[in-house]
Amino acid sequence: MQSNFWEKLKKPIIVSAPMSGVTDDAFRRMFLKYGRPDVFWTEFVSAEGLFSNGRDSCLKVLRFSPEEHPIVAQVFGSNPSDFKKAAKEIENLGFDGIDINMGCPDRAIENKGAGAALIKDIELAKQIIRATKEETKIPVSVKTRLGYNENEINQWIVPLLQENIAALTIHLRTRNQMYRGSAEWGTIEKIVKLRDLYSPKTIIIGNGDVKSLEQAYQLAKENGIDGIMVGRASVGNPWFCSNKTPSIPERLTAIIEHAELFNEPERFNAMKKHFHAYAKGFNGAKELRDKLMETKNNSEVKELINEFLSRLNNDKK
Ligand SMILES: Cc1cc2nc3c(=O)[nH]c(=O)nc-3n(C[C@H](O)[C@H](O)[C@H](O)COP(=O)(O)O)c2cc1C
Repeated sequence: MQSNFWEKLKKPIIVSAPMSGVTDDAFRRMFLKYGRPDVFWTEFVSAEGLFSNGRDSCLKVLRFSPEEHPIVAQVFGSNPSDFKKAAKEIENLGFDGIDINMGCPDRAIENKGAGAALIKDIELAKQIIRATKEETKIPVSVKTRLGYNENEINQWIVPLLQENIAALTIHLRTRNQMYRGSAEWGTIEKIVKLRDLYSPKTIIIGNGDVKSLEQAYQLAKENGIDGIMVGRASVGNPWFCSNKTPSIPERLTAIIEHAELFNEPERFNAMKKHFHAYAKGFNGAKELRDKLMETKNNSEVKELINEFLSRLNNDKK
């Protein structure tokens, strides 16, 4: 392995979760402005898609700016030879690491034998890791869940660790739990013990339901893990890593900034999940959200928010 950036990071490492349709370059730029995580992740891309008709849209997902380093590209697939090609491509694009998705419960992904389906095919999962490692010098990591139907860490996590992966992120739920119930943080200590036994250099990152930076630090300390990955709590909250509570005007201004960074008029509706996440927790938020859902472009968003802000100012007078 050439340069393993994971080894140089100060612990606990706070990383942003890959979230398809959410953690695009505009989202990540908001974090660069308001407080970055130690490591960024892209949304996932298909290893096969990178070398098919879908190549342009995959490359679009893999756009990033130099300030985002260290950044890891996440790939899904089920064919080791696709991963070989993808690994080379991702290294050439300048990524610091490549992460293999072995946890996505989406039927469309699983039907291709990818994501969480790999939990049921340990041999293939190992071949995929080996193929990826063979073709690249950047560190190879895996993101997965506790098991398929139930907690199967001895059967599932041990073989992954035996491949000496650079980092292992565990969403502390099984595939069948999807997002139900609570993440089983009680299990992470056992995973750390397995790591110590089978692959002492692998970085262990816990994931699931973390709501604040303070909680992330607490969980890392209590459980002796190297890092924490944060997903949903960071949506509409680019202040997550700075631990700042933004004022209402700051929240609203961020909506305009985020929409301007996104700047894809033909896919304007893709911004609406972000509007929803930013505009909450204050008086009049619901009404503003409803109106934001009806906007058709950035200038309508700007107008609506400026109107709301001036009303807020008038109320103060
Ligand atoms: C909208 C959305 C998209 C996601 N896309 C991905 C993905 O592309 N790759 C992946 O490994 N996990 C994906 N996840 C799972 C998250 O990375 C994370 O494991 C999960 O949300 C639990 O963490 P949290 O409770 O901090 O959100 C996604 C989750 C959500 C909500």
